[in-house]
Amino acid sequence: MKKTIILIAGALLFVALTASCSREIPEKDDDKIRIGFIAETFTVERWEVDRDIFIAKARELGAEVIVQNAYENSERQIEIIRDMVSQGVDALVIIAYEKDALADAVEFARNNGVIVIAYDRLILNANVDLYITFDNVQVGKLMGEEAVKVIPEGRYLILNGAETDNNAFYFRDGYMGVLTRNPLIEIIDETWITDWRDEEAYQYVWNYLESGGTMDAIIAANDRVADGAVRALSEFRLAGLIPVTGQDAELSACRRIVEGTQLMTVYKPIRILAEGAAQAAVDLVNGRELKGFDFINDGENEVKYIEYTPLAVTKDNINETIISDGVYTIDQVYRNIPEDQRP
Ligand code: GAL
Repeated sequence: MKKTIILIAGALLFVALTASCSREIPEKDDDKIRIGFIAETFTVERWEVDRDIFIAKARELGAEVIVQNAYENSERQIEIIRDMVSQGVDALVIIAYEKDALADAVEFARNNGVIVIAYDRLILNANVDLYITFDNVQVGKLMGEEAVKVIPEGRYLILNGAETDNNAFYFRDGYMGVLTRNPLIEIIDETWITDWRDEEAYQYVWNYLESGGTMDAIIAANDRVADGAVRALSEFRLAGLIPVTGQDAELSACRRIVEGTQLMTVYKPIRILAEGAAQAAVDLVNGRELKGFDFINDGENEVKYIEYTPLAVTKDNINETIISDGVYTIDQVYRNIPEDQRP
């Protein structure tokens, strides 16, 4: 009898201990679908917008979302994946920090019946259930095309995105495909900006100018990189004289565009992507077939792939796109432009 009591007490203690250490994620209530949203960082303005729209749509679909941030650290991202799987999530939506670091963790999740969606950035060799993004080569093409419209011949400086981000290679394919087709365009130098950091872009362009370097245009692979480049140009009184590209339609970039220091950005309607990902996660968990997908090779597997169409935004169409879509208001974008000078 005494032994039985000890055994029961031990079992109860074990249950209590395991339950307490699983407090990280709220207990699963009823049969609600639970989705883990794993960001690589929120220092890039757009990812907070993705997160908020994703959560709102998932809730509308009756699911709950647990958000975790990997702070640009792959080991942390792997740990979060394993934690969420062990807590019983039904799906994971991952913005991968590094393109080739998560294959094993994704395999672990999928072997445990968890749906895994690569959000905006492909996860190589991972055989995810879905990769959902924008047409990233087209994003780069739009940058190249808008730059060539204003600088059809001349010397281009190329600031690629982070080498750890698979998208950076797609963007480069896009703008290099445009630039190298034009014999009157010279690529004078190119670099890869670690973690898309504006400080690194600033330092690179500043050093280039300080050493006497000149250029006729700068391809910056996103708005944060453009921000750094424009800050460096302004210290040499060149801001607005050298066209600079970007993407993500960040508010600071939209302001630079109407103020003339950034040529363009690429508008990727985040609402379409974030809501599409939430719908796909719920559909896949419920065993419903996806619609409108293609296949893309992840290095080892043909994975399902949904891509949305990006849009070039310049000062000529910013009102009919960014502002009319309600992304930002006239006052937000034209904050530094006197009212009588606004279109
Ligand atoms: C890319 C994304 C871009 C840009 C960049 C910086 O993967 O497609 O929109 O934001 O990351 O995080």
